Amino acid sequence: MYANRTFLVTGASSGIGHAVTTALLSRSAKVIGVSRREPELTPTEMHDFDSENFQFLGCDLSDFESLSNSLEPEIRRLRKEKSHPLDGVVLCHGYGDFGAVEQFSNERISLLIDTNLTSHIMICRLVLPVLKTVGAGDLIFIGSESSLKGGKKGAVYCATKFGLRGFAQSLRQECATSNVKVSIVNPGMVDTGFFDDLDFAPGESQDNQLHAETVAKAVMAIFDMPSGSVVDEINLSPIKTVIRNK
Ligand SMILES: NC(=O)c1ccc[n+]([C@@H]2O[C@H](COP(=O)([O-])OP(=O)(O)OC[C@H]3O[C@@H](n4cnc5c(N)ncnc54)[C@H](OP(=O)(O)O)[C@@H]3O)[C@@H](O)[C@H]2O)c1
Repeated sequence: MYANRTFLVTGASSGIGHAVTTALLSRSAKVIGVSRREPELTPTEMHDFDSENFQFLGCDLSDFESLSNSLEPEIRRLRKEKSHPLDGVVLCHGYGDFGAVEQFSNERISLLIDTNLTSHIMICRLVLPVLKTVGAGDLIFIGSESSLKGGKKGAVYCATKFGLRGFAQSLRQECATSNVKVSIVNPGMVDTGFFDDLDFAPGESQDNQLHAETVAKAVMAIFDMPSGSVVDEINLSPIKTVIRNK
């Protein structure tokens, strides 16, 4: 079902994007994985990532010139090689930055918005014509529980995630006539590198945190929906929300 299908996954080096890439490769799909760093691999993952099914595209997506220079030629190449160039796009890249807005410099605000929101819009500008021409395919955003509810110290991050949700909902309507399905997955706290540079993290108990693989399962469930139906949104949380201060 996945063999010979091609997917673009951002944030492929770690966390949710890495787990989505692993799930797709294990089903024999082809994946173009985008991130600044190459994915770090466990011995069991090496076989799939070292195969010709995985292609790494190194790019800082907050640098819009680099984004265009990396993705545009790749999309042109896919269009030349295949009549059905792209089957799905999963946008998983992003990071968290929290604090009172007056503590943020203008540069810090811009970088967060550029990375978590504007780059997503720019990638869609490039990939949607391909999906719409084919008249099929999935476009999946990784939002957040912060796409649904504002929170203390989260003003700028929530602004990016609320924006992403509004963008996804609008594209969902716009793309229906082209049979392109647009979905957003909004996870609560996931045990990933997201928290490495933050002063908080999910509680240590297993029911305080999602795993990246669980979010990837939700993404795969979206891909597996029958044609003619679309999952608009999935909200996914650990059963008990506990925040641990580091
Ligand atoms: N973890 C959570 O609790 C949680 C909850 C809700 C939503 N989310 C969202 O889920 C998404 C993935 O986060 P994660 O939890 O998987 O964290 P993660 O393990 O830190 O992964 C983030 C990914 O984004 C990539 N990335 C970040 N900045 C980039 C840039 N400028 N250019 C290209 N790639 C960039 C990173 O790759 P490089 O560093 O190699 O570039 C990495 O692959 C984010 O959008 C985050 O907001 C996370």
